[in-house]
Amino acid sequence: MPLIIAIDGPAASGKGTIARALAAHFGFHHLDTGLLYRATGAKGGDPVLAAQTLTASDLTRPGLRSAQAGQAASRIAAIPAVRAALVDFQRRFAGQEPGAVLDGRDIGTVICPDAAVKLYVTASDRTRAARRAAELGADADTMLKELRERDRRDRERATAPLRPASDAVILDTTDLTISDAIAVAIAQVNRVL
Ligand code: C5P
Repeated sequence: MPLIIAIDGPAASGKGTIARALAAHFGFHHLDTGLLYRATGAKGGDPVLAAQTLTASDLTRPGLRSAQAGQAASRIAAIPAVRAALVDFQRRFAGQEPGAVLDGRDIGTVICPDAAVKLYVTASDRTRAARRAAELGADADTMLKELRERDRRDRERATAPLRPASDAVILDTTDLTISDAIAVAIAQVNRVL
């Protein structure tokens, strides 16, 4: 049985960095599921059709990491039929040996409710905005507004809203260095090995 690590949390919480580090450390596959929603939003046209016909090359489209692509993603991510179209791909990915790390918003709650390890990675709004501003070379106040708007939409939607799974370990990275946060995450995985 492959080992599944589910990592959820709001934008710029550090979940992507932690997910990549865990995958490298344990030799597991890694999927940034936000990219599926970003690529679906960026295709334009009917978002349900875009999700149903998503291919690997759509995931390499330039500009997918921008704040604008993030906003577009969170709008189409509220559509139940878009989410439904992306479930099989994520579950197949999670089934790969020897294990997989998936990061997103609903991995521990909806996509992989039986994951062996569930982490909910979070950090204060201001810390997340400052990190994202540094990453994208943008203004921190503008980023704060953008992140709050996107988080609110992700938390308040009816289908698969952003929330910690009841059995998730909460990892608040506000006052942690990247390497400390990674060390905590590795320790959590080692508990189930
Ligand atoms: O993680 P990232 O910022 O790339 O995600 C972009 C958007 O995609 C999120 O704001 C969210 O609306 C959506 N998303 C989602 N479920 C996931 C991953 C991302 O709804 N598992």
